[in-house]
This record gives sequence, structure tokens and C-alpha cells, in this order.
Amino acid sequence: MRQIVYKGIDSVLHLKKIIEEYSVETVFLITGKQSYVSCGAENKMNEILANFKIERFWDFSENPKIADFYRGLTKFKNSGAQVIIAIGGGSVLDMAKLIRRFSESNIEMLNIVTDATEALESKVPLIAIPTTAGSGSEATHFAVVYINNVKHSIAHKSMLPDIVVIDPQFALNLNSKMAAISGADAFCQAIESYWSVNATNESKQYARRAIKLIINNLPVFVQHPTIQSSLNMVEAAHLAGKAINISKTTAPHAISYPMTAYYGIPHGQAVSLTLVDFLLYNFFVTEHDNVDRRGIDYVKGTFNELLEILNVKDIFQAKFQIEHFFQSIGLVLDFSNSTISTVQDIESILTNISMERLANNPRIVSYDIVKKILLSKFVLKNEIENNRSNYLDCYKNLDS
Ligand SMILES: [Fe+2]
Repeated sequence: MRQIVYKGIDSVLHLKKIIEEYSVETVFLITGKQSYVSCGAENKMNEILANFKIERFWDFSENPKIADFYRGLTKFKNSGAQVIIAIGGGSVLDMAKLIRRFSESNIEMLNIVTDATEALESKVPLIAIPTTAGSGSEATHFAVVYINNVKHSIAHKSMLPDIVVIDPQFALNLNSKMAAISGADAFCQAIESYWSVNATNESKQYARRAIKLIINNLPVFVQHPTIQSSLNMVEAAHLAGKAINISKTTAPHAISYPMTAYYGIPHGQAVSLTLVDFLLYNFFVTEHDNVDRRGIDYVKGTFNELLEILNVKDIFQAKFQIEHFFQSIGLVLDFSNSTISTVQDIESILTNISMERLANNPRIVSYDIVKKILLSKFVLKNEIENNRSNYLDCYKNLDS
């Protein structure tokens, strides 16, 4: 499905003309809560949409729950709106994609998980305007929803927004913590996309451009944001989104979802926690535990390309560079700032990992490996210091 993208400073001003072409009377506007005001979107949208009737949906949780979705869908159906505009972060855009996907469905009969591929296609246009530089949700055909704290990825080609407006003025107003967390998500998505078993030449090109843009712009964007660094970051997040739209994400994302659902660790922080671990783990893939159908030489080649993109001479330099990069934007790479504090917590994360995303990882991942990696995140708390040497060995030996 084709997507039209408007990009650049004040590209949001195209919006009025776009919706006029759809002969719209009522706009269904999906937004964040405070972020809608603080990023400057409210003022801008009030100006642009002054001549249209607006039905706004905004009171839903950051990691949308199924009940939020049903409320939103009911509100949309009652609104009689002819277009959906979503302006916000990944959760806002995901919510809009779900509402549009199921807008022709009978709410009473709807089962969001099983009906995803069968629901009638909606004719209501969807316009997505990301206000963070992170999820790249505007470029993907899937969305996350939590049902009883379990993450579900709902996918259908018609969930891809029809029109995207990438305007750097909104992300420019992010606070430094949000800028860091969102940017780290985009970085992890690009890296994971690169080594995913579903990666193609096209997705690798998007991911490569995203990685370079993020390395060169995220520290400035977090510490002293400029309109240029914001523009480069929203572009990078969009490219990373295009990359995972083809390749999907892998192990760090698979493991992150229970950390977010049960322990409240922000998504970008949760995925960053294990990225370097899987960089090393996947680098040491062998013929026996390789998952990629293109063979071990292809996967080894992919990792050599990745080292080249990161401009490092070996995998250990890559590890230190990425750790340093994350620390430079203020991310904490262990559990010291979280409520994950016991081995039982690790067990609970292990039982709720997304198997679907884990299957995209280029090297077989056992529960034992994930457990060792997660236990290592206690190291700075001195709780399981003795496991550290085991932990380093586990990259090389799947059965250790
Ligand atoms: Fe993500």
C-alpha cells in the first residue's frame, strides 16, 4: 500500500489542504494528554482545523489496553467523522491504526486478535503525525495493544496510515528524558531490523540510514536540541519504522514487553537494556544455532556490515561504543532504577516474552540465555556479582 509523506519544517500546514480534498466535515482527532499541549500541537491544530468539527479522543493509557481501544472505536463510530488524524507518540498512532482497521466491524462481535486479518477494510483515511522521534509507528502496518497485560501485535496491510506528516517542530519540545528514550527505541529498531531474519536489501538500506542519523544527531537532540537535529531524528525514526515494517523486531523487543507491562519501564529504555547483549550474542552465531535461512555466511556478513556502519574495528569496540552512546544520553543500562529486584521478577518476565518477535532473531535464543542476560542487569546492585563470568561466557556457548 502506498503512503504519501510530507516532510520538513511546517509541513503540518499541508494538513488543511489535504483534508479539504477529502470533503470532510468532522475530524476524529486522536492525541496524547499533556504532550498534545506541551509539544505545541494543540495550538497548531486549533489553527489548522478551525473550520472543521472536531471529535477528540485522548483519555487512554500510554500502552493502550483493549478497553481503551473499545472506547475509542465506539467514540469514532458515534462521531460520524470522515477522516482520522492521529498526532502524538507511538501509542497514539497505534490506537488510531487499530480504530481505523476495525471501524467497519461490529463492536459486540469483535475479537481484535482473531479478526485482524478478516475485518472489512475501512474507507476512512488515516493521517499520522508523529510528535516524538522514536516509534516510527507512522511507517508500519502493525500496532501494539495490551490484553490482560499481555502484549499483542495486530497486523494488517491496511493499518499503514495513508498520509504521514513529519514536522520536526513538535519533537523539538520533548524533554530530554523523553527525547532519549524515544530516540533509543528508534536506534534499537534500526539495529534489530538490520540483523532480523526477515531483513531485505530494502529494509537494510532504511536501517543503515537510520543508524547513522541517530548516532550523529541523538546526543545533540537530547542535550541541546536544534531544529536540524529534530528534523534528522524524526527522519531517522521514520526510516527505522520503514525498516521494521519489512523486517519486524527481534529479541530485545521480545523481552522488553513484560518489562514495560509489569514493571513500568518505558519502552525505549526496556529495549535498550538488552541490545548490546544481543549484539554480542548474535555476533557469535554458529552453524548449529543459526536461524536465518540464507545461511551462516550471510549472517556473518550482516554483522560485518553492521560493524562498518558503526565505524568500529571489532565487536567489542561496537559494544563499548553503543554502551557509551546510551550512557551519553542518560540511559541506565541495568535494573538499578527499576522495580525489577528479585529472581522471581526475572522468572515472571521470562514467562511473558513475545515468542513471535523472538522468532525473528538470527540466533536461537533459549530461556537460559535470556535469564543469564537479565540476571546480569543486577550486577550494579551487587546481588549476583558471581554470575558475571558465566554471563560473558554465555555469548559464545549456547549450552553454558
Ligand atoms: Fe520499539
